[in-house]
Amino acid sequence: MLLTREEMTFDFQGGTLDPARDREVIEWMMNQFLYGEMTGIQVGYWLYEHAPDYDAAKFLARQSLEEMQHVENFLRIMAMLGCKPKPAHGAVRFLSTGMMGGSWAEHVSLEMAAGEGFVLMAFYAIIDTLDHKPSVDILRRAVKQEERHVEFGEQQTMKAIEGRAWLRRRLLGLNLVSMWGVRRLAKFMQKRLPQDHPVMKHLPAFLELSVRCNETRLRRMGMIDRPLAELGALRRAALVTEAYGGKALGALASLVTLPLRLLPWFKRKRLTDTYLKDPHIHALPPGAPAEATD
Ligand SMILES: [Fe+2]
Ligand SMILES: [Fe+2]
Repeated sequence: MLLTREEMTFDFQGGTLDPARDREVIEWMMNQFLYGEMTGIQVGYWLYEHAPDYDAAKFLARQSLEEMQHVENFLRIMAMLGCKPKPAHGAVRFLSTGMMGGSWAEHVSLEMAAGEGFVLMAFYAIIDTLDHKPSVDILRRAVKQEERHVEFGEQQTMKAIEGRAWLRRRLLGLNLVSMWGVRRLAKFMQKRLPQDHPVMKHLPAFLELSVRCNETRLRRMGMIDRPLAELGALRRAALVTEAYGGKALGALASLVTLPLRLLPWFKRKRLTDTYLKDPHIHALPPGAPAEATD
């Protein structure tokens, strides 16, 4: 990976998440992660439609299996902590399913390098704060695989933008929007979070670090050659307009085939719609022991 564990580590100043006291917030977080891992089924789409070469195909085949094992990991953690599988927040569902990348370059840069990068930092934060060793041990093993997913995203992004300045600008524009979104979220949370909770009170600062790490990754991948702050508001606005202009043109061109492409989406329910009804999801009894599944 282009960033180290140390660089991606936030100092919660000794604050911990207590499995009993913080059950509700832990359950909420685990359910967002559970959904995120379930979106591992989408890797099948990238394998079948977009894998550029044999190595990438092999990587994706393995990744989809790892994400399914992560589903198992979270079910196990939730059973141990007495948390129930529940629907993920609408925004999380939209961000991870509704906003799937439109091309291989968008997938590897926005969903893998940036998106899984954000998730990886959240996993590190849970590892550093959750006061429950069996759960933390499971997560420690899973992050090794997530690190490889982020690294693959970084490598493939660098390959994709080499010699293609227009693509580099477009991906940068799209990235700026997602970083803006995370900053807005941090501002929104700042006023609503309990200021006396040892972990939750740090969330806005943690999100700020996540955005800064993403910027560092962009620089190391060669997407930008100076700090974003030096780009100026006008230049940043131009990048965003250009990125969405390009997307809009592409969307216009594909409008002709839209009804045909949408039909299966309406007809077919995917696992990300039905997993909460799957008997396996509820199979683990509360307090089930932690078994290694990775
Ligand atoms: Fe995962
Ligand atoms: Fe992953």
